[in-house]
Amino acid sequence: MSVKPQDLNWETLGFGYINTGKSFRAYYKDGKWDGGQVVEANTITISEASPAVHLGQQCFEGLKAYRTKDGSVNLFRVDENAKRLARSADQVMLPPYPEDAFVEAVKEIVRANEEWIPPYGTGATLYIRPFLIGVGDIVGVSPASEALFGIYVTPVGAYFKGGLQPAPFMVSEYDRAAPRGTGSAKVGGNYASSFKAGKEAQVHNFADSIFLDPATHTKIEEVGAANFFAITEDDVFVTPKSPSILPSITKYSLLHLAEHVLGLETFEGDVFIDQLDHYKEAGAMGTAAVITPIGSITQGDKKHVFYSETEVGPLTRALYDELTGIQFGEKEGPEGWIQKV
Ligand code: PLP
Ligand code: COI
Repeated sequence: MSVKPQDLNWETLGFGYINTGKSFRAYYKDGKWDGGQVVEANTITISEASPAVHLGQQCFEGLKAYRTKDGSVNLFRVDENAKRLARSADQVMLPPYPEDAFVEAVKEIVRANEEWIPPYGTGATLYIRPFLIGVGDIVGVSPASEALFGIYVTPVGAYFKGGLQPAPFMVSEYDRAAPRGTGSAKVGGNYASSFKAGKEAQVHNFADSIFLDPATHTKIEEVGAANFFAITEDDVFVTPKSPSILPSITKYSLLHLAEHVLGLETFEGDVFIDQLDHYKEAGAMGTAAVITPIGSITQGDKKHVFYSETEVGPLTRALYDELTGIQFGEKEGPEGWIQKV
């Protein structure tokens, strides 16, 4: 028997998949996209020879719908997800899904799954996962001439256990992406190549792995599936800049809020792993991670503790309050950040 929204305890939801029964599908064939539609299925049928299956020709997005106090539903910077999917598609030679159609499709599938959008105040949200895959009969190493664009949605709670609770992270020995590879695109290969590092972290009781830059292994790049930030002793918001990390929409939003709302200086550049004592607070940021305080980073037998292993630091909390305040409609955000469903 399938789960119904009324069976869920929104407060204790984790980051797992629940079939809501309705998804979006559009097909690209003969050089054009069809209009797309909502379907009552959570499966797809494609050729076994599809390059998405063998060659990793695919990309995806992740965003959320937020229920506000007045019952309306907010999307946060959905146009940026539309643009990033088009950039990722270009990287793996998939036909881009038109950006306006992307935004409309997201709204349509969220509306169709209205009963699955968690109530305001529970902390839970509706996670939205658009994906674009190359399909058709390809044996050699070449891109597809057909593609499928889909969206599924699923209600979620915290990605890292405890939400705004500091979590311990470890530095991985593995690289997630190559210096001139696909690190800045949201393509599946970057995630498959992070599984071993993630597993290793879990086995050692860390929340996740931190990846260093693949060229020199001296600089922090990503925190699992999230970007990294830290706050210096003199209140500068610092975050890595590198061609092999995913340009996080949350990161660019926090850079803006840190500067324009909290009045902090900001810096996007190198964050050296041997200079962690310059920072008093640190965190992971992303759609799934929201802001997860980093309690400590362990590299080999060296462990660095930031603000606290049990308490969230004041600036991390302030950033969290600004970001989630805008997302849930409690605070006014910069123009264009929120679109109503
Ligand atoms: N880094 C990686 C590798 C990710 O998968 C994500 C999630 O999309 C992020 C960072 C955060 O990006 P965003 O804030 O756009 O969700
Ligand atoms: C996201 O924040 O959307 C992610 O990329 C997280 C991960 C579940 C893929």
